Amino acid sequence: MNYEIRNLIDKGGFGEVYDCVDAVGNVYAIKIPKIEEQEEEKRFNREIRIHAALCHENILPIIEDGSYKGHPYYIMPIANCNLDNLIKNIDTLDLFSQIASGMIYAHENGVIHRDLTPRNILAFKKNGGYILKICDFGLGKFSIRDSTVITGSADSFGTVGYMAPEQRGGVRDVDHRADIYALGKILYKIVSGTEDVITINNDKIPSEFRYIINKACADDVESRFNSVKDMMEDFNLVTSPFHVSNPSHIVRDEITNILDENNFSLERTADLAKMILENTSDNIIINEIVPKIPESILKSLLNNHYDTFYFVIKDYDNSIDIIGLPFGYCDIIADFYKNLYDNTDSYELKELIIKRLPKLGYENNRYHVGYVFGQIVNELTDDSLILTVRDILSSDEQMANFCKDYFSKGIPKIISSIL
Ligand SMILES: Nc1ncnc2c1ncn2[C@@H]1O[C@H](COP(=O)(O)OP(=O)(O)O)[C@@H](O)[C@H]1O
Ligand SMILES: [Mg+2]
Repeated sequence: MNYEIRNLIDKGGFGEVYDCVDAVGNVYAIKIPKIEEQEEEKRFNREIRIHAALCHENILPIIEDGSYKGHPYYIMPIANCNLDNLIKNIDTLDLFSQIASGMIYAHENGVIHRDLTPRNILAFKKNGGYILKICDFGLGKFSIRDSTVITGSADSFGTVGYMAPEQRGGVRDVDHRADIYALGKILYKIVSGTEDVITINNDKIPSEFRYIINKACADDVESRFNSVKDMMEDFNLVTSPFHVSNPSHIVRDEITNILDENNFSLERTADLAKMILENTSDNIIINEIVPKIPESILKSLLNNHYDTFYFVIKDYDNSIDIIGLPFGYCDIIADFYKNLYDNTDSYELKELIIKRLPKLGYENNRYHVGYVFGQIVNELTDDSLILTVRDILSSDEQMANFCKDYFSKGIPKIISSIL
């Protein structure tokens, strides 16, 4: 053998894993099984056969296998730790879909793992994050191994917790849904932060994951997800912000959070702007939330994410024509528009506001709207906007009459001359 075996890394129910170096100094891991009976050697060879047939980025590759002084072994890349260690140190939820990808691939290739546990998933540091790789494909159909794992130590209890009920009796014909059960338990461990995964305590699961975990871990095989793909579809639904939860709740919460945490980072407010724009067809967001965005956030949206936020305002402005306005809501629009007007330098936005307010005040006969429009016109100095006001007022005499009452004597002559 061209490897020098050094220290024991860890051992499972069946083998020991050491680090080792090759002739040029590369470090690998070597697995050497405990073999007391011929059956066990057969099983190890079978493990290698199954494992070596799989080639996927989330499945540990086997680099070489052989036998040394009558002991079979295989060589693999050396991991930084296993998932069990990793869960204790970092939030691994983002890594869960990697395990699922590996299992989808294995199942598609006719391989069932049957011993999927955090200790049989290895973590490799990569680009500042981790890549997970499934290892230990030894269990296969061998029920002998089940019994070695079940006895005793705290470690093996972990494995008991991941083992589907139909597998406990050493039933040989369990199918891929035993792995789905184990995946459910792994997800449970990740999101609950508990050591004990034998029984599921829903109080320890964030509510969005309760459905998935309970379905994956149903005692009755038929009640589980049919495939890891199905499971991941639902996983993706509950982990992506919009599909299940009500978008208006998310937007409202995010506004509150940004204010509470005083976190106006560009990334955060950019996401908020995008989130609102993607949901302007949601009545609550467009009619209730948008006009009441707190001024500090509004400023940030206008100054930093104008290109996105302008389209939100356009959608808002269009919605005014469509909805029947509740009495009093006109005043909310007027205050919102004044707030926008005071916090923007954008000509197109100011023009939109100036076109909207006289119409809104006149058609709904709202004093407050007229007053706000008056405030704007009385202070107008921009020639282009002055000409715009002239055009609007000269287009409708009665509207001009309504607005007149709110203008001071000092308004630009171009406007007063048409009144
Ligand atoms: N390539 C590796 N790099 C680092 N650690 C490993 C590697 N392979 C296995 N281990 C560690 O050794 C333990 C036992 O290996 P495993 O293949 O699961 O053996 P068993 O079949 O006895 O369970 C794993 O839980 C893991 O912590
Ligand atoms: Mg193992």
